[in-house]
Amino acid sequence: MAGYYVVGNWKMQLSVAESVALARAVRSAPPPSGVTVVLCPSFPSLVPVGDVIKGTNLSLGAQDSCSEERGAYTGEVSPAVLREVGCRYVIVGHSERRQLFYETDESVRRKVATALRHGLTPILCVGETAEERAAGRRDEVVERQLRVALDGASGNFIVAYEPVWAIGSGKTVTRREAVDAHRFIRNVLDHAVGAVATAQTAVLYGGSVTAENVGHFVGADLMDGVLVGTASVEADAFQSIVAAVAT
Ligand code: PGA
Repeated sequence: MAGYYVVGNWKMQLSVAESVALARAVRSAPPPSGVTVVLCPSFPSLVPVGDVIKGTNLSLGAQDSCSEERGAYTGEVSPAVLREVGCRYVIVGHSERRQLFYETDESVRRKVATALRHGLTPILCVGETAEERAAGRRDEVVERQLRVALDGASGNFIVAYEPVWAIGSGKTVTRREAVDAHRFIRNVLDHAVGAVATAQTAVLYGGSVTAENVGHFVGADLMDGVLVGTASVEADAFQSIVAAVAT
């Protein structure tokens, strides 16, 4: 793994004007070398935010993409079009998509495959619910999500381990759990997923990440970066996370 990632998932939190203002603020302090910063605004803000960060080392990502390339799919957005407007990354299988919009492991697999075919790097989200965790099923759930989503995949992708109970809750895994989850996911990628995963596959942590706690998750033997929701829509908080990851 070369370098770290900080991905900002702005969800549906901002207007277009607010997204542009946030992108300008983030742009004012370029990320240090070795840290890839990806901004993921909502669809209507992709083009204006892309214009703001053009020529910088900030990258653009979408929050979702269609499993199909083109056709009669009302309301969907093609990964080919996301590429056309400058996206390099796309978040796929976020737990909010799985839980609120009924995405399945199989639909996530098709999205990953189509995104890869169109030159996007999928950021594949996996993670257990509170109930699954309480039942000691973390490993089983995460392994299944990885195996299904990456079945037949070829190309570079990123995995984000996002325990569902940690998202937006202020709760996080411990440092020890982060080490353990990282090792477990790498092991699944090496042995179960096989040839598609390489040592270059970044494994990120997501769920209530702040500048204060990010040091528990990122570093040697730990995660290769973070996926940030709440703290990514506030420029100072996000910049502090980027700075903390760089040190
Ligand atoms: P959070 O969101 O940082 O607000 O917990 C993370 C995510 O949903 O990706």
